[in-house]
Amino acid sequence: MFAEGLKGIVAAQTLISHIDGKEGRLIYRGYEIGKLTRGYSFEEVAYLLWHGRLPSQDEVNKLERKLNENRCLTPYLMELIKLLPKTMDMMSVLRTAISSEGTLEYCWKPTIDQAVKLTAIVPTIIAYRQSILKDQMFIEPREDLSHVENFLYMITGSIPSKLVVSALETYMILTLEHGMNASAFSARVTASTESDMVSAITSAIGTMKGPLHGGAPSGVIQLLNEIGTPKNADKVIREKLLHGEKLMGFGHRVYKTHDPRAISLKDKLLEAREEDGWLDLAMHVEKVAIRILNELKPGRNLYTNVEFYAAAIMKSINLDLELFTPTFTASRIVGWTAHVLEQAENNTIFRPRAEYIGEIRGGV
Ligand code: ACO
Repeated sequence: MFAEGLKGIVAAQTLISHIDGKEGRLIYRGYEIGKLTRGYSFEEVAYLLWHGRLPSQDEVNKLERKLNENRCLTPYLMELIKLLPKTMDMMSVLRTAISSEGTLEYCWKPTIDQAVKLTAIVPTIIAYRQSILKDQMFIEPREDLSHVENFLYMITGSIPSKLVVSALETYMILTLEHGMNASAFSARVTASTESDMVSAITSAIGTMKGPLHGGAPSGVIQLLNEIGTPKNADKVIREKLLHGEKLMGFGHRVYKTHDPRAISLKDKLLEAREEDGWLDLAMHVEKVAIRILNELKPGRNLYTNVEFYAAAIMKSINLDLELFTPTFTASRIVGWTAHVLEQAENNTIFRPRAEYIGEIRGGV
């Protein structure tokens, strides 16, 4: 059987998350995502994804300590990042930096410890690289701050407000994991060859980089900037669709109704609403786009996906455009590593077939 893009094919059984695309539900290890964003920290939900259950206070303290202890980059890694050409985009830097961690410490079989270490260094790689590009002093990680607080601290140089931390933490929890998406699949395919955790995560980062996957939030900002004011929405959207362009931040392979992550992010933004009018523009564009998509693409069930309101969150916390996909990576690495661990537990190498549709030529 041939299914383009493996649409609808079940490629693995998993205990990590469940997506109900018809009802618009996302569940991590048995818990509704809305419950997790309302009552738990990034560290607690990461623990849940890695271990299969929520941690006790003692267990979460230990995980926080371990993440803190592993935040610093080795001199070797700092040197390597410094040597990379300034024109290299941040996702390629992350891919190269993570790939360089591929020492014996990370050999098969993957462990939770390896997952924690890789998760711990991603924000520092981003912040360090940003300091080089901006010719600014590097703000060293602080051990007394949570994972999300520290990330914001290293990027901005000041302790973030509770509101800002809560906005980014909500986004990061919502995007920790999402079933067999393209990057998780890449990670699992690499792990299925009994390659190591670092190689699997390197594959995943390369996959995440593409605009149809992790690159959408910056596309959303570009779309909203192009629209500029609510009265232009109808014209710009219609023109794009009539030219066969896809609207960034809309549509999803699995959700054929509202993406529950987009709803949670929108709620969060409404809670922390500021007077800059940007959220109003985003909500107006959402309404107009859904109406026009229904008209021009009837029956495709196209709604906003997580990336649409992720862009609004990133904008509300003043994150540079180039940091959107890397920030997504800083959260999704938890899901990837959970998938690698699960793959390793009950491994069969991925080896689908390709159907040859060329001709068979007579030979000399
Ligand atoms: N804008 C306009 N039309 C769309 C969009 C969109 N954003 N998404 C899907 N469609 C249309 C397609 O043109 C196609 O129409 P057709 O039947 O006339 O050919 C139909 O809907 C089905 O689209 P597919 O591309 O086959 O849907 P698929 O499930 O393969 O794609 C995807 C899902 C890649 C996310 C797609 O919706 C898309 O490209 N969206 C824009 C990019 C984006 O927002 N990506 C972020 C996704 S979320 C994430 O990765 C975390």
